[in-house]
Amino acid sequence: MLYSKSSSTGLSVSRFGLGTHYTIGDRLDLKQSQRILQEALSIGINLIDTANTYAEGECEQILGQLLKTVHHSQYLLATKLFFPIFDGPNGNGLSRKHIIESTHQSLKRLNVDYIDVLQMHRYDPDTPIEEVVETVRNLRYQGKILYWAVSQWSTKQLKAAIDLGERPIWNQLPFNYFYRKNTNLIIEMRKLGVDCLSYGALAQGVINESYLNAGHSKGSRIFHRKAAQSLYHNIPSDLATLKKLSECCNKRGISLFEFSVGFCELECDPVSTLIGSYRPIHFENMSKYIIEHSNIVTVIKEIVDELNLSSKSPT
Ligand SMILES: NC(=O)c1ccc[n+]([C@@H]2O[C@H](COP(=O)([O-])OP(=O)(O)OC[C@H]3O[C@@H](n4cnc5c(N)ncnc54)[C@H](OP(=O)(O)O)[C@@H]3O)[C@@H](O)[C@H]2O)c1
Repeated sequence: MLYSKSSSTGLSVSRFGLGTHYTIGDRLDLKQSQRILQEALSIGINLIDTANTYAEGECEQILGQLLKTVHHSQYLLATKLFFPIFDGPNGNGLSRKHIIESTHQSLKRLNVDYIDVLQMHRYDPDTPIEEVVETVRNLRYQGKILYWAVSQWSTKQLKAAIDLGERPIWNQLPFNYFYRKNTNLIIEMRKLGVDCLSYGALAQGVINESYLNAGHSKGSRIFHRKAAQSLYHNIPSDLATLKKLSECCNKRGISLFEFSVGFCELECDPVSTLIGSYRPIHFENMSKYIIEHSNIVTVIKEIVDELNLSSKSPT
């Protein structure tokens, strides 16, 4: 595995992170989840990304059971809060009340003394940023969290937190061949010392050979109800573009998976890329990527030039 140093902290993060949305507690039961977690840890992945809402809490619960046998020094557990998890008007958002209640519940489900990275799943325009920052700071002082991070926050929102003395260590952002809208934000984030933690590099599984050749099987990520409302739901119609990309990759001996991850790495320089992997072959793909990393990056630079894909011309 390759590890990146977070820009603003001493943390080392594996180049791939294990995404768990619509896998652990959804498509995967306890036993299947155990195998996936073992595969991830065995190839050196140390970042596990979840959220209090994934599988309505079941994802955190299963992770809590499985991680009992793994020393906490071996993994970074990152969970999220913001979306409704409790009934009532305070059951979501970033108020002090919700952050504290949600964090306590996640700690219980995850069965850990502390959460490595507490992530604010979205910005909350209805809560003063001072309240969010103070709550995060207190949680850290209490030892319940080690770091905090955000997802899909704008430059202005990030700056507001930093001005109050609390820099989120990363901002989770979607980025892939079909979705390159965040390039300017990433440039601004770099100036602020906030890393990009990228997700959706495979456009939820659309960017892969099996989709190109046979469409998706029923169990695929893309059919998940949330995916139907996702940023990339129009992609299936874009097969011609994907075919061209695939031919380009084939010609140079790399897979669409390798292209997708390497392209994201070149354009976003993420601290890590979250992938929603859930089959043994997925982990083999990741290991191969790491082994052939420098060659793959060189080849992708050629493809980027050939297809004029650089971030200077974002879609
Ligand atoms: N912060 C946020 O708001 C946010 C939003 C979305 C996701 N996330 C995080 O990011 C993670 C990844 O996102 P995602 O699952 O939506 O998208 P993704 O990683 O782009 O796509 C996952 C799909 O790609 C295919 N796949 C996975 N690993 C593969 C591999 N090694 N080789 C080839 N194909 C592979 C599978 O498709 P099939 O299912 O077709 O087999 C899988 O379901 C999530 O699990 C979650 O942790 C965060």
